Amino acid sequence: MGLSIRNFETLGSELCGVDLSKPLSEHDRLAIGEALDRHLVVVARDQRLSDPQLLAFSANFGELDPPGPNPYGEPFNKEFPEINVISNVIENGRPIGNLGAGEAVWHADMTYVDVPPKAAVLHALEIPPEGGGDTYFADMYAAYEAMPRELKSAVEGKRLVHDASRNSAGLLRKGYSEVRDVRETVGATHPIVRTDPLKRRRGLFLGRRPNSYIVGLEVAESEALLDAIWAHATQVRFTMCHEWRVGDLLMWNNPAVLHRRDSFDAKARRVMHRTQIKGVEQIA
Ligand code: SIN
Repeated sequence: MGLSIRNFETLGSELCGVDLSKPLSEHDRLAIGEALDRHLVVVARDQRLSDPQLLAFSANFGELDPPGPNPYGEPFNKEFPEINVISNVIENGRPIGNLGAGEAVWHADMTYVDVPPKAAVLHALEIPPEGGGDTYFADMYAAYEAMPRELKSAVEGKRLVHDASRNSAGLLRKGYSEVRDVRETVGATHPIVRTDPLKRRRGLFLGRRPNSYIVGLEVAESEALLDAIWAHATQVRFTMCHEWRVGDLLMWNNPAVLHRRDSFDAKARRVMHRTQIKGVEQIA
């Protein structure tokens, strides 16, 4: 039995019958790439990948992109610095990974650079036994398509500044200072409406809400329009929720979705290893 792919109702697909720790056949590599392109999130259960295997799997989809700056100023995984560690665990008085046990707000990864990563891969090594820490994804093509006409015309042609200063857990990254006026937010500027590289679909491209700013508007106007867009884009009807088990491997199409994570019991251990794939797309 080879790879089969089951599509979820809203977005997302599950890969079955494949061991991602082994080299992929060309057929499976193309099938997984196509699922990621069409269904935006792919999930595989019961995988056990070492760090080199995680790097090898990820490299099937493009050049690896090292993690962005974290609040502690040095890679969490010193042996494999292309791997980011997402964890609440503290060892010898230092966090072994990013994001702690709190909520991570809706965001897409590293959209504060000109060419953001095209995909991310997250592999669950340890998960709190009582649950929590579910991860949600929102489909930005579906959200754009369903936008009320007035909101669509309000965003048409507008550009957004994407804040680089804080991570999705709200921590200030090393080397950045507090944003006091959103007109001075530091980060890349992108169109609010993105057209996918094959020009088949248009989707919202929002990055993250805190400190974002719509170029050229009064601050109050920008805030009001952003609140309306975010309230629309994150409705449950555009989302899927992933409840983690040890061995899960998730991959998402970064420019096409937003994701967020629930908080979990800070006394439990949650350890995930993560890679991302370099983007090649100038958002337009
Ligand atoms: C992330 O935002 O990359 C982390 C998501 C998670 O911890 O589930």
